[in-house]
Amino acid sequence: MEKNNKKRIFSGVQPSGDLHIGNYLGAISQWVNMQNKYECIFCVVDYHAITVKQDPEILRKKIIEIAKIYIASGIDPQKSVIFQQSTITAHTEFAWILNCIVARMSDLNKMTQFKDKSGNHQENVGIGLYDYPVLMASDILLYNTDVVPVGDDQLQHVELTRTLARRFNERFGDTLQLPKAEIRKTGARIMGLDDPTKKMSKSAASDLNYIALTDNPDKAAKKIMRAVTDTGSEIKYDLEKKPGISNLLTIYSLLVKKEIKELEKEYQNKMYGEFKKNLAEVVKSFLIDFQKKYNAISDKEVEQIMAQGTKKIKPIADNTLDRVKMKIGVL
Ligand code: TYM
Repeated sequence: MEKNNKKRIFSGVQPSGDLHIGNYLGAISQWVNMQNKYECIFCVVDYHAITVKQDPEILRKKIIEIAKIYIASGIDPQKSVIFQQSTITAHTEFAWILNCIVARMSDLNKMTQFKDKSGNHQENVGIGLYDYPVLMASDILLYNTDVVPVGDDQLQHVELTRTLARRFNERFGDTLQLPKAEIRKTGARIMGLDDPTKKMSKSAASDLNYIALTDNPDKAAKKIMRAVTDTGSEIKYDLEKKPGISNLLTIYSLLVKKEIKELEKEYQNKMYGEFKKNLAEVVKSFLIDFQKKYNAISDKEVEQIMAQGTKKIKPIADNTLDRVKMKIGVL
């Protein structure tokens, strides 16, 4: 895969927990539209998933599941590369080099996601969870990536990636391409249905927090009906006063591809109940359609697609790693 004049995109999702409409609306659905404009690489980041405890059998299934979700969402394997991170060993090798040469404790101590995930147990969590952003930097930098489309919780990690690349280049001369994050204006942070002040998360305590892409569509519709709304009755986007309705308007807008302003007009003088009922129907039919596509893809097909993906892009990663190894003096 020679770099042509198109810019290159790299992004990924962890094969852990249930993938939800936050992941879909904040990241994956955005990738679909980028496939014609950019050269795209989409990764199933299994080595990131093992930074927390995983059941081996479930992990194996989840890796396949994420790749299927990519395809069912509209990622076309003819146009874009889909691959499994651990099949290209350059990722971990390069992460080690970045760890030794440019990453500092002071960088990682600033990472808010680590603080959130480790909670009060910072001394006892695995080193991998702490070092996770450096592996992510390795993923991105190995492919001379121009653009990284992610939800806004990953912005800090992409900024760190730029810092590490800049530091490397300052010391060894121009070697690594500095990437930019691309965060969508609407939907970069879908909030929890049961608590719209916190982001929708696959590790949430209650499954009323999120709608998984594999949820039973009727069950998902019920979750929308039970979603927390705000006081008052107006259907209006106002993050401060109406975080619940604003979040539902965002989801609605992205699923039906209508501006929020347009929806506000449609629902002027209507009640929350009617709005939620209609959104529940929208979510239900989205899931029915999505799952039809998902179920049409076999495990074997996905394994082949990922193997081809690895074959196609491994030379890019190996080439970057070799250049880096030469610069630091091990090759
Ligand atoms: P992960 O697996 O946690 O999430 C995958 C993508 O979904 C986005 N996302 C959301 N967007 C909107 N609202 C939400 N509530 C929401 N929750 C999650 C995330 O921002 C992400 O884009 N570290 C990454 C995976 C990764 C990666 C990479 C990404 C590893 N290497 C290289 C880009 C490039 C992660 O854990 O994403």
